[in-house]
Order: sequence, then structure tokens, then C-alpha cells
Amino acid sequence: MQSLQPSVAFFDSGIGGLTVLAACKKQINAPFYYYGDNAYAPYGNRSVLEIRGRVFSAFTLFEKMRVQAAVVACNTATTVCIDELRQRFSFPVVGTEPAVRTAAKRGGEIFVLTTRATYESLRFKTLCKRLSDEYPNANIRPFACKRLAGDIERNLLKEGYDCTSLLPKGKPAAVVLGCTHYVYMQSQIQAYYDCPTYDGNDGVARRLRGAFNDLAAARRDGQPLLTPDVLSPKTAPVFFLGSSKAYNEHVYEQMFVEK
Ligand code: DGL
Repeated sequence: MQSLQPSVAFFDSGIGGLTVLAACKKQINAPFYYYGDNAYAPYGNRSVLEIRGRVFSAFTLFEKMRVQAAVVACNTATTVCIDELRQRFSFPVVGTEPAVRTAAKRGGEIFVLTTRATYESLRFKTLCKRLSDEYPNANIRPFACKRLAGDIERNLLKEGYDCTSLLPKGKPAAVVLGCTHYVYMQSQIQAYYDCPTYDGNDGVARRLRGAFNDLAAARRDGQPLLTPDVLSPKTAPVFFLGSSKAYNEHVYEQMFVEK
């Protein structure tokens, strides 16, 4: 399968990455491919070796499809293997990381909700340490929400679904949604804590546009990849890949397509 237009592949353990795709779709009108590894979700409680293997097999498929760029629309996979992916694959790879900086700037107690694998990763610990030093007025408190992503993966479309019993207790000044699955529950989490919440999805969209601009600059003919007709209107298709494509497409239609 060869892509004729600039195309982007998105990867997540399951439905979470659709929240990233939807944010990117508002800014970029290229064809998007979505690969959710739902049969193995949640990744957060799996080993680094297992996660790495699953992500690499999806990226090998993206390479065969000759996509122009790929988004790891998963904080967990980003913390586990983003550097290795960038070394191994020749197309730009954009990662998703918890928006701790944005929240830390405001100061006060900042809850950072993540999966267990993200919580335990050196990359995430280093990020929290660096930002605690940089913003001494912020008390950055990471939490491993071991059951939250899996619960959202299974129950998102059930009527009256409520995830708040799985949230850590407290009165934070702000909450960072450090897993793309949590973004679906943003308004519920915001209401539960009665404070602002932050996710990294708009940041991913900005970096993806940046990656396209870099690719265009590197082209000899000087033609931009993101021409105005590629950028708008927002009509480009989304294609679903993998064994759970029907479920992901259904969730995408329910949550993001205007009826
Ligand atoms: N949505 C993913 C993340 O951003 C992974 C959740 C999971 O599978 O545990 O971390």
C-alpha cells in the first residue's frame, strides 16, 4: 500500500489515541490511519519488553505503508520506546507526553494521573524531577492509576459510565491527564476535583505540523507538503487498521463525528 498524499499513522494500545487523532484532525487535513492494539490493552500493567514488541510490530507495518509520519498517541508507549522508534524508523515520530509543564506553571498541588508503566519509567520520573526544580511553587504528585485505562477502554460507551471511584483522593489545584484514555473523561475528572485539567493533545498536533514543515523544508523542490487544500476543509478520511478496527471506528464515530 503506497500513500500518495501526506499520510499519518496513529498508534495506541486501544481507543485512547483517538483523542489525539481528533485533536490533530482539527489542524491537519491529511489522511490518517489509526492502529489500536485493543486486544493487548491496557499496556500500563504490561512489561516494557512486551510493550516495546507490540509497538515495533505496528511501526513495521507503518513503514511498509510508507506513511510520512507517525504519532505514538500513547503516553505509555512513548515513555517505553520513543527514542528507539526514532532511531529505527526514517519517518518522523511524534510522541505524547503528560502536559506537566503547563500545569506546573500555575503552581500548587498538581496531580499527574498516569498508567503504572508510565509512572515507573525513568523518562517520566526525570520529567517530574526537572519540572519540580524549575517550578518550586508546584508540588508535582504523580499517581499510577492501575485500573483506570482498562476501565475506560471497556466501559466508555456504556450509559452513565462513571470512573471517579478509580481516581486518587485529594484537593489538587490542577490535574494532568497523563494517559490518552483519560482524555475521554476530562469533564468528569474536572468536575470531580473542581479544578482545571490538562492533556498533551494540542501539543502533539503542533509538533506534527512542525514535523510536516521540516519534511517540506528538506524537499529539494521546495514544495510544502501541507498545501492549503491539504489543510482545509477537514474532509480527509480516517482509515482503521488492525484486528479491532471495527471497535475503534465505532468509538470514533460515537465520540468525534458530528451527526
Ligand atoms: N492510552 C495509553 C496512554 O496514553 C495507554 C493506556 C494503557 O493501555 O494502559 O498511556
